[in-house]
Amino acid sequence: MTEQKQQKLHSAEYFGEQRDFWWNRDFLTLLGQRWELEKVNTVLDVGCGLGHWGQTLADILPRWVKVTGIDREDRWVEGARSRVQALKKAERFSYQSGVASSLPFEDTTFDMVTCQTLLIHVQEPLAVLKEMLRVLKPGGILVVAEPNNLASSLLFNSVTFEYSIERICDRVRFQLVCERGKAALGEGNNSIGDLLPGYFASLGLNNIQVYLSDKAFSLFPPYESKEQQILRQQYLDWIKENFWIWNRDETQRFFLAGGGTKQEFETYWQQILLENQDSQKALVDGSFDTANSSILYLVSGIKV
Ligand SMILES: C[S@@+](CC[C@H](N)C(=O)[O-])C[C@H]1O[C@@H](n2cnc3c(N)ncnc32)[C@H](O)[C@@H]1O
Repeated sequence: MTEQKQQKLHSAEYFGEQRDFWWNRDFLTLLGQRWELEKVNTVLDVGCGLGHWGQTLADILPRWVKVTGIDREDRWVEGARSRVQALKKAERFSYQSGVASSLPFEDTTFDMVTCQTLLIHVQEPLAVLKEMLRVLKPGGILVVAEPNNLASSLLFNSVTFEYSIERICDRVRFQLVCERGKAALGEGNNSIGDLLPGYFASLGLNNIQVYLSDKAFSLFPPYESKEQQILRQQYLDWIKENFWIWNRDETQRFFLAGGGTKQEFETYWQQILLENQDSQKALVDGSFDTANSSILYLVSGIKV
């Protein structure tokens, strides 16, 4: 059986329009200077999905730079091709199928190898990093953008700010048990970002740099900007579909694998649905607001 068939397919809910607003471009331009990206000619974007990350990076790279994207799911590879065609940027990008643990490229092929929110989905992130390093040229740069997603369970909005301490702690515990369960099932740890500098050090990378995205996903009435309208609509759509971080079945699967019981799951899930109801009402009547940060690390290092 191929890796693609063994693994659960990646949820389409994450690939909405909101992903176009993940980065502040001037911040990435600054990082491009710190990473000396003017030296780069070829880039590999691993676990590219629809290509958002590689396409964003391409904007801060010299215009002759070619970006190759690879993903284990054919539907995203085809989607990425369609996206760059629609954006009239197809000549700079090529997309193909393949798995991160066994990249279909010769050793030392690329000047830059990168990924965004891939390592949170893989069973052995260190092995994938080693494979990414294999295809990187000596002197080339490895850059990964990966989060600590659990931190988001302690962010507040105008609805959750007033919840009881018990309810807030319940929510953190629920998400932590699910994250642990997902990792135990071999589907990756959603908060792996915290460990990446250590992995880079253990792999012998030089000049390791660690940054945090400076982007916040704020929402406040009257939700005027295009970005806020898209984010507000995404929240409303997810609530309508009863989609939390995952759908109900997937959440239950992770929760049980993390050591939770079915009975506990029902209690926690009811709390999520109630929170969704409160949020939906506030998003519609204009009383929902949040500063809404995230912990998304950018870790880079140079191959010796
Ligand atoms: C959260 S998405 C991120 C997509 C893209 N990097 C972005 O930031 O927009 C994770 C992507 O990694 C892909 N993926 C997960 N495990 C993979 C693996 N072992 N090899 C290749 N791709 C993988 C999924 O199919 C999905 O498209």
